[in-house]
Amino acid sequence: MIVPAKRVATVSEYYFSRKLAEVRRLDQDEPRVINLGIGSPDLAPHPSVVEVLSDSARSGSAHGYQSYRGIPELRRAIAKFSRDTYGVELDPETMVLPLMGSKEGIMHVSMAFLDDGDEVLLPDPGYPTYASAAKLAGATPRTYAIGEGPGDAIDLEALERRDLSRVKLMWVNFPHMPTGRVASAGELQRVVELARRHRFLVVNDNPYSLILNDSPRSILAARGADEVALELNSLSKSHNMAGWRIGWVAGSGEHLDAVLRVKSNMDSGMFLPMQLAAAKALESRGEWFASLNATYAERRRHAAELVRALGCGEVEPRPGLFVWAKAPDAVGDVEAWLDEILHATKVFLVPGFVFGEAGRRHVRVSLCRPAEAIAEARDRVAAFMAARLEGGARTAVAARRDA
Ligand SMILES: Cc1ncc(COP(=O)(O)O)c(C=O)c1O
Repeated sequence: MIVPAKRVATVSEYYFSRKLAEVRRLDQDEPRVINLGIGSPDLAPHPSVVEVLSDSARSGSAHGYQSYRGIPELRRAIAKFSRDTYGVELDPETMVLPLMGSKEGIMHVSMAFLDDGDEVLLPDPGYPTYASAAKLAGATPRTYAIGEGPGDAIDLEALERRDLSRVKLMWVNFPHMPTGRVASAGELQRVVELARRHRFLVVNDNPYSLILNDSPRSILAARGADEVALELNSLSKSHNMAGWRIGWVAGSGEHLDAVLRVKSNMDSGMFLPMQLAAAKALESRGEWFASLNATYAERRRHAAELVRALGCGEVEPRPGLFVWAKAPDAVGDVEAWLDEILHATKVFLVPGFVFGEAGRRHVRVSLCRPAEAIAEARDRVAAFMAARLEGGARTAVAARRDA
């Protein structure tokens, strides 16, 4: 075997890439697995989006390479979306760069701005790709606490007492995955000021702003953001287009030029019909989001009952595609407990360690399955917990008898 590059040893295979193979094996017989793992929306995009895709795919001229910067129609649609949703003006010529999903964007930004020895601030718990991309780019990840309670904020004073001299990049992600915490405009402003004081780039990864969230915000609305901030966004979650791989990065033209230098050496543009369809999707307005969010709100109620059945207690309704709950204190190893539940009930829930040390005692439940499936998962889990309690009680009785 030819030895892989040293950088490969800095990362491991993505948790879901490994675990979903096990889930698929379990799913081969009845009862089927209820997969409440990954945040891949199960609902379809708006029919008009698919129509644009198929109509334009019929044109003989739609199949060639496309511009590295994305077509003007898509960039203009992104700029309009940004104005209407966040009140942020973007010049579609220079301040918008369409991407193949925001996950890829995390790698592009890391490749464009990080050198060996640089440090990267990232949230714990948080999306694991920030750390992997930092390591693949030769940099060192350093975590900060996200502040999980209502009204919480990142403790920027504590962060500033640390040595930030090697920090080149800070990831923020609001609304935050997995906790669902949102940031106030004031918190985003203070993050931008911190980045300006310490001369590093701050990137807000913003794919959940329209899911169960009344006040969508962009970091680019903060004063002085153009000097130090970028924002990633995506059609994956809000427009049910995760498999399409369409997102974008927005910010100053100079920063985007650096990203484009990397990106234009890695891909050769995006299929034209997908770009036209993405522009169509970005025209979606209130009614689309109201109906989507009504569906997710119902699912979230069932997911809250599910975590209650697990013994996690009450959870506050939060934005995003997940319910995040603390496991009962009596559970020793949360990963092993959820594995036992997976094998006994065929309900797949994600152990919080996947998102970092601070998530080690938590469980994440995805809302990307129908309400009936989440209710069925709740019932299976409740039956498992009751049997366990009863088994525990029986064992205790037997132990007393034997004594
Ligand atoms: C916080 C966060 N950022 C980025 C992504 C990636 O989304 P995309 O499909 O746009 O690559 C995800 C997907 O789960 C996510 O949770």
